Amino acid sequence: MSQRWWQNSVVYQIYPRSFADGNGDGIGDLRGIIQHLDYLQALGVDVVWLSPVYKSPNDDNGYDISDYRDIMTEFGTLADWREMIDGLHQRGIKLVMDLVVNHTSDEHPWFVEARKSKDNAYRDYYIWRAPKDGGEPNNWASFFGGSAWQFDETTGEYYLHLFTKKQPDLNWENPKVRAEVYALMHWWLKQGVDGFRMDVINMISKVPGLPDAPIMDADSRYQFGGQYFINGPRLLEFLHEMKREVLSKYDLLTVGETPLMTPDYASLVTHPDTGCLSMLFEFEHMDLDTAPGKPKWFSQPWSLCDLKDVTMRWQTGLANRGWNSSYLTNHDQPRAVSRFGDDGEYRVQSAKLLATFTHLLQGTPYIYQGEELGMTNVAFDGIEDYRDVESLNMYREFVDERGLDPQIVLGMLHAKSRDNARTPMQWSAAAHAGFTTGTPWIKVNPNYTAINAAQALADPDSIFHYYRRLIELRHAQPVIVHGVTELVLADHPQIMAFTRTWQAERLLVILNFSRETPLVDLPADLIEADYEVMIANYPIDPGHPHRSILRPYEARVYLVVRHRL
Ligand code: GLC
Ligand code: CA
Repeated sequence: MSQRWWQNSVVYQIYPRSFADGNGDGIGDLRGIIQHLDYLQALGVDVVWLSPVYKSPNDDNGYDISDYRDIMTEFGTLADWREMIDGLHQRGIKLVMDLVVNHTSDEHPWFVEARKSKDNAYRDYYIWRAPKDGGEPNNWASFFGGSAWQFDETTGEYYLHLFTKKQPDLNWENPKVRAEVYALMHWWLKQGVDGFRMDVINMISKVPGLPDAPIMDADSRYQFGGQYFINGPRLLEFLHEMKREVLSKYDLLTVGETPLMTPDYASLVTHPDTGCLSMLFEFEHMDLDTAPGKPKWFSQPWSLCDLKDVTMRWQTGLANRGWNSSYLTNHDQPRAVSRFGDDGEYRVQSAKLLATFTHLLQGTPYIYQGEELGMTNVAFDGIEDYRDVESLNMYREFVDERGLDPQIVLGMLHAKSRDNARTPMQWSAAAHAGFTTGTPWIKVNPNYTAINAAQALADPDSIFHYYRRLIELRHAQPVIVHGVTELVLADHPQIMAFTRTWQAERLLVILNFSRETPLVDLPADLIEADYEVMIANYPIDPGHPHRSILRPYEARVYLVVRHRL
């Protein structure tokens, strides 16, 4: 397989609203990012993925764009943005922008025009339908509650919005829409950006006729219609057109956000010769702690064997015929250490274990801001502290419409709200975690006095420095980038272990995903070898890992020195 720069890169995601506030208005901004570029360089990341900074009325914190070629007022100006990208490039860090083109804001000039009349030149930029039997054109649910259709008085028709009603879906069947998207991509690429993260990109092609979805949730009037708009009939055609018109002209990192993806389809999209994008974000591992067929709020305990199955399906599924991304959290997910580790007694050990997991798999690792500090979920006392539109809509629906107990619903938010990831970055033990000198737009997690960047930078044993070493190792060891992954101890309920093999090199990764102390019992071919420790989250004696007792959340990576036989 040909080697590309983004294969041995590590990406750091910035959610600008919550990263750093440069002017004291309580909202993170570009100036704040500029002030922390040295921090990113100290961590050693190669790429920053910046969540949307475009003009937006912020119904969904920037994922509702009203001008693709300008910066959100609260975040600064294009001049600030240029200073930021220059500062990144001077430090050898590339910049990936968020491309949100499944939908726009309803305040985008295209939509403002489109809703004026049925014969407006922009009408066909969006998806309009006449009422059916006096109601919505079909039974699709919006991801953020209620119907996916909004009635518009002026013309007496409905428009489709898979997300909030302020995020109307673009009509990708219209070649003019596609040409607009390619033009705005070129515009940013000419400003020097190094790639795009493509928001819900596998939803842009809808099945013609927009059929009703089957009834899955009998408690709701509206149903999940994913089979009619996920990996839709023209998706590959559109992506190949985008490749031909835009992507092929530059050397980019492109990553598609793609719920309900399969390895076979992902291989079509990311194949090194015939694909169109560098990699995808798949979601199978994000669904392991949700009751089958239920919305994400209905949690269930996840099992390590399921995580192994999903991980290996993707590791082997894309080996030599695509490329993986590797992540455990982002701005839409709970904090990784709270969800997959232990955010109490073993927070530091388990955060390092999870880091070892994501960084030692084949695929490009993504770090979400604060993950490198082991930041945790937050449990706000009441709904008034939540800000996320998805959380607020869900609370209203579950409490006001379905009559669920507010305490139970708050418990669901504590586990799964997107605001868990959106509390301000914890820079120091100063007021508001050093995020702002004003009043933060969302409350800081009260644990900032103990968990913060100043503390982490000063402690050589911190989670931060562990990430820094993992990144250094990836840069130095091709086996981490290219090694073939094979599971060891496949059925062990607490230990995840795998080897990575590339040319004459082999690594053995041993991860105890529990607070227990299991015994490592290796298969024969791994016993007859010598081992060197590459990185570990506890002090360990040199020598053979076989028949050793692992400590809670212990993670060890060994270089297997060729067989003694
Ligand atoms: C993606 C984004 C999420 C946003 C949604 C609609 O899933 O990551 O934050 O709400 O798309 O744009
Ligand atoms: Ca600000």
